[in-house]
Formats: sequence, structure tokens, C-alpha cells
Amino acid sequence: MGRSFSDKIIRSQSEFKLSIICHCFIFTVAMRLNLIEHILINNPLRQLVQYLFEARKLLHMGGRADNGHVLEIGCGSGAGIDLIFSAFGAATVDAFDLDPQVVGRALQRHPGNIGNVRLWVGNVRHIPVPDGWYDAVFNFGVLHHVQRWRSALDEIYRVLKPGGRFYCEEILKKYITHPVFRRLLYHPQYDRFDQSELSTALGGAGFHVKDTAELFDLYGWFIADKPIK
Ligand SMILES: C[S@@+](CC[C@H](N)C(=O)[O-])C[C@H]1O[C@@H](n2cnc3c(N)ncnc32)[C@H](O)[C@@H]1O
Repeated sequence: MGRSFSDKIIRSQSEFKLSIICHCFIFTVAMRLNLIEHILINNPLRQLVQYLFEARKLLHMGGRADNGHVLEIGCGSGAGIDLIFSAFGAATVDAFDLDPQVVGRALQRHPGNIGNVRLWVGNVRHIPVPDGWYDAVFNFGVLHHVQRWRSALDEIYRVLKPGGRFYCEEILKKYITHPVFRRLLYHPQYDRFDQSELSTALGGAGFHVKDTAELFDLYGWFIADKPIK
């Protein structure tokens, strides 16, 4: 015998509840996994590695940005800002991140948005400055989080002055899609890039790719200039 109308409603209500519970569970797990990366990135050891290795690599490849007006995209809790001043010699650093919580931490490090640092919550795909605003843009591992990363490259190109330089450190496809890291960390999986794909995309956005380096196909470094036309 067929089920009554009220049976169907009760069944569809319980399916709905189950679906809500599943979605909540997936969301919670995703956020918690995101927390793993948060801890991996925001700890004193990572900051030491960023200082001793990551920044030095970019410095060796791209040189200093002396007295430059510089932007850092996806600045996290602001350790990169210190490096951009101390190792690269910037005069001012603007920096933003999509996550208000980490911008809050960066503001504790660089209080009050005064002097030579300006911080805000923002998206790399819409940077609120006119064309040709910055001498240099820094990216410490942000683009691999961005679904439409090619349009982020267009935006970075737009805000650089002609002759300006993009210092870019990235996590490559092999790392992002690795069966272990894919489960542990929370990254978009579709249309990620390897070394040559990011180089090609930089060229496609109009950059002149000056130098690149990679480590085990997992990490990549790129120095790309906006040509003077
Ligand atoms: C792996 S963390 C790196 C943080 C920092 N650059 C560092 O090296 O410590 C990636 C950062 O990119 C930020 N992010 C992700 N998508 C973004 C977007 N569309 N615009 C701006 N920031 C973004 C995240 O909130 C996160 O803080």
C-alpha cells in the first residue's frame, strides 16, 4: 500500500533535517580543517621560516623595493608587513586580508592604521585603489586560496605602476591536490596551477616574468614586472 501524504511530509522533513545535519557537519569539519592551516601559518616557527627562507628567496630573486609604496595581498596576521619593511626597505605598506579575524591580529601588531601602514579587510579581486598605485605587490601564498586566481592577477597588474614588481610565493597544484593535504587542509581543488601554468598566466595578464624557482614541484617563487609601455 502507498504511503499517506502525511507520511511523505514526515519523511521529507526527516530527510531535510538529515541534510541540514550533514551540511552542518561538513561545514564544521571544513572550518576545523581550515583551522589546521591557520595554526600552521600563524606560529613563531612559520614566521622564522618566512623570515629566513621565504623572504630571502624573493629578495635574492627580485632585489629590494627601497622607499617603495608596497601592497601585501592576503597579509594574514601581519608578519609579512614587518619583513617587507625590514628586508625589502619599503617606505609604506598597505595590506589586506579576506578574513576579518586575522586583520584584527595584524592591527594589534601595527596599531591604528597610522603612519606607514594601512590595513583593511578586502578581496584581492577588488583592490580599492586607482590604477598604477603601487611600486610593488607581495603575495605570500594567497592565490592558491582564490577560486578565480587569474582575475586576481589582472587586478594585481592593474594596481602596479608601469615598471612595478610583483613578488610572488605560491603553493603549487601537486601540494594542494595531494591526497593527504587535500583532506587535512581546505583549499579549492579545481583549476589550481603548477610552476609553468602560473608563469604562463602571469604572461597572459601582461607581466614580464623575470625569474621563477620551484621546490619539489610543491612551492613556487615568481618575480614578474609590469612593463613600461
Ligand atoms: C596561507 S594564508 C597566508 C597568510 C600570509 N600571507 C602569510 O604568509 O602568513 C592565506 C591567506 O589568504 C587570505 N585570502 C584567501 N582568499 C583571499 C582573497 N580572495 N583576498 C584576500 N585574501 C584572501 C586568507 O584569509 C589567508 O589569511
